[in-house]
Amino acid sequence: MYFTAPRIDENPPAANALRADPAFRADVLQGLAQPRKAIPARWFYDMRGSQLFEAITQVPEYYPTRTETALLKAHSGEVAERVGADATVVEFGSGSSIKTRILLGAMPRATYVPIDICGEFLEEACTALQRLFPALRIMPVEANFMNPVQLPLRPDEAPRAMLGFFPGSTIGNLTPEAAVDLLRSMRETLGESAHLLIGIDRVKEPRRLVSAYDDAQGVTALFNLNLLQRINRELGGSIPVGEFRHVARWNPTASRIEMHLEARRAIRFEVDGHAFRMEGGETIHTENCHKYRPGEMRLLLAAGGWRELEHWTDPQGDFSLILAQADGAQREP
Ligand code: TRP
Repeated sequence: MYFTAPRIDENPPAANALRADPAFRADVLQGLAQPRKAIPARWFYDMRGSQLFEAITQVPEYYPTRTETALLKAHSGEVAERVGADATVVEFGSGSSIKTRILLGAMPRATYVPIDICGEFLEEACTALQRLFPALRIMPVEANFMNPVQLPLRPDEAPRAMLGFFPGSTIGNLTPEAAVDLLRSMRETLGESAHLLIGIDRVKEPRRLVSAYDDAQGVTALFNLNLLQRINRELGGSIPVGEFRHVARWNPTASRIEMHLEARRAIRFEVDGHAFRMEGGETIHTENCHKYRPGEMRLLLAAGGWRELEHWTDPQGDFSLILAQADGAQREP
């Protein structure tokens, strides 16, 4: 991994403060004003956050990426056979599109619609992918996939089979209620007879789960702390980043890993002219990663309007790759 650690005590001047995304500003100011501080996880993914996230997927403790990659290698052929090798593949939160290469390798005539919130990262990923698949039609969409997405498909064309692709257990980053809403909106976006290929992480020993989100090299810590640096950079914040520590804990009641940024001691700082203070030990909650059992996955999908067709797992039963289809019966009033 080629990574230069940032100097986390540095507060670069807020050259971008005027150009800051107003939604980012609103979410941060509101999130820090709550009695239990929390900032929505989508703000992790600026350019540096997107790069650090890719680095997380390479650390030894983070088993989901390599497990899911092996499952995709083993089963992409079956997916292509069931869905059709010329389907339109719509990926929700495409990131580096590395896993997608495996799937597209089995679907030589596919059209690819990657959706990602970081436009710059999306562009780089598409360039790399086009080099590997010169004939592939790629139609990127820079958007937050949590909002309904207008697909950039040409109206003059015969409709093709649709395959939603939602790997990485990203579904687990939502509460179960929000996950059901998203599954329903994906079904709206993708249409009646669409398929969905989704990766979901399983409940397992808390010790393994916690270490996957708190790796020894500290890459996940840098990823979490980058959010504070982004606030300082883009919103003119004065957060003393070095006074924060990355914390990953298992919440057994909610069946999820929680990521927090914990103040090591009492501190004060400003963001965009607003003053905040935190006690020592107080945290900013930044991410949830819900884990499911196989039966719960089926229920979640069913509640979202999807019927499980295939459910693949690795020999250890660490991770699930599921092929589902829009459940027609669900449409009846
Ligand atoms: N969805 C993946 C997971 O929950 C990846 C992920 C999202 C992640 N946010 C993260 C991994 C924060 C580490 C830290 O595992």
